[in-house]
Amino acid sequence: MMTGSDVAPGRVRRDRRPRLDPASGSSPMARALQLAAQVRTATAPNPWVGCVLVSRSGEVFEGATEPPGGPHAEVVAIGRAGEEARGSVLYTTLEPCAHQGRTPPCTGAIVAAGVSKVVVGILDPDPQVCGRGVEELRDRGVEVEVGEMAEEVSAQLAPYLKHRRTGRPWVILKLGASADGRIAAPDGSSRWITGEAARRDAHRLRAESDAVLVGAGTVRVDDPSLTARDGSQVVAEPLRVVLGSVPRGAKVRPALEMRGDPGGVLDDLGARGVLQVLVEGGSQVAHRFHEAGVVDRYVLYLAPALFGGDDAVPMFRGAGAPDMARIWRGRFVSMEPLGSDLRLELEAVGAEVPAGLDALIGSSSNMPAGEDARTQPDQEEV
Ligand SMILES: NC(=O)c1ccc[n+]([C@@H]2O[C@H](COP(=O)([O-])OP(=O)(O)OC[C@H]3O[C@@H](n4cnc5c(N)ncnc54)[C@H](OP(=O)(O)O)[C@@H]3O)[C@@H](O)[C@H]2O)c1
Repeated sequence: MMTGSDVAPGRVRRDRRPRLDPASGSSPMARALQLAAQVRTATAPNPWVGCVLVSRSGEVFEGATEPPGGPHAEVVAIGRAGEEARGSVLYTTLEPCAHQGRTPPCTGAIVAAGVSKVVVGILDPDPQVCGRGVEELRDRGVEVEVGEMAEEVSAQLAPYLKHRRTGRPWVILKLGASADGRIAAPDGSSRWITGEAARRDAHRLRAESDAVLVGAGTVRVDDPSLTARDGSQVVAEPLRVVLGSVPRGAKVRPALEMRGDPGGVLDDLGARGVLQVLVEGGSQVAHRFHEAGVVDRYVLYLAPALFGGDDAVPMFRGAGAPDMARIWRGRFVSMEPLGSDLRLELEAVGAEVPAGLDALIGSSSNMPAGEDARTQPDQEEV
C-alpha cells in the first residue's frame, strides 16, 4: 500500500478514509505539508503551499502551488476533485487568499465548489490576506478551523513569514569548514574542504534561495559561478549578490553589487522580493552578518580534517566575543552525518517561530491578532 510519502502530487487516492496513512498516523494536513515541500523551489516569490481535499465519500484529491502565474494549491485540488468537492473538507497549510492577484481569489473557488469545511494551518500575514480569507469563507457559510499543525507549517514557511512581517529575507549563513573551524588554507584555497554530499546539499540550499550572497574577496579568490545545480525544479536561478566590486570577467557576472551594513542590504533585498538569502561567506562577510545579529540559521558543514594552526582562514574574520558573558549561544536545530562530513544547523537561543504562533492562529474567534502584519509594506502577488 502506498504511504503518504510516496504518492506523487495530484494522484487521486481511492482510499475511503480521510486519514491518509493510519499506520504512520499521517493526517491530511501532514500530507499537505509534504506536498508543499515538493514545490519548495518552484513557487518563488509566492509561498509554497500544500492542500488536500477529502470528499464526502473519503476520496482524496491533492494540490500544491504551481509556479508563479499558475493556480494556487487549493484551486489545483478543487480542479482535480470536480463535483467531488461539494460537501468536502479541504486542508490547506496556509490561509486561502481573498484577493485578486495574478490569479482569482481562492476563497471564491472554494465557495463556488461547495466545500463545506476548510482546515487551515496558519493565517497568512500578508496584508492583502491577513485573516480576510478566513473571514470571507465564514461569511459565506463555510466552516473554518485554524491552527492544525501550525508549528510545523510555520517552520516550513519561515522565510515567507519573516519577509511578510519584517520586509527582510530569511538569512542562512552557510560555511564549509575543517573540524577546527577553518574555511580556507593560508594561501586562500578552499576547494574542497568538504565532500560531494555536502556540496550537493549546499546546492539544494541555493535552489531554495532567491538570492546567494558572497563578498568580493571570495569572488577574487574562488571565482564561483553561484548557480543552483541540484536538479530541482527551479523557477529562476537565485539572484547573485556580491558585497563590493565584481572583477571584470568573473564567472558570477551578471551580479548585483551591493555595499553598506547587513541590515540595509537585507532591506534592499527584501524590497526586491527576496524571501530567502543564502550568505556563503567568506570570512569577513560571515563576521559582519553574524556581528549584526541578522542570521536566522547557520548551516555548517564540518569535514574530518584539521588545518592544525592559526594561519588558515577562520569562519569569522574580525573581533569576536570579548568574554564568556558575551559569547553567542545557540541551539542545534539538526545534526547529521553527510557523506564523510557533519552537517550542523544552528539558531540563536530564543529564536522564535518567525511570526509568533498566536498571530498566525488567531484569537479564540480565529481572527488575526497580527497588528504588525498589517503595517508591512504592501506586497503585490507576483
Ligand atoms: N569554505 C567556505 O565555506 C568558504 C566560503 C566562502 C569563501 N571562502 C574562503 O574565504 C576566503 C575569502 O574570505 P575573505 O574574508 O577574504 O573575503 P569575503 O568576506 O568574501 O569578502 C570581503 C570583501 O568583500 C567586500 N565587502 C564585504 N562587505 C562589504 C560591504 N558591506 N560593502 C562593500 N564591500 C564589502 C570587501 O571588498 P573590497 O576589499 O573590494 O572592498 C571585502 O574586502 C577565500 O579564501 C575563500 O576561499 C570559504
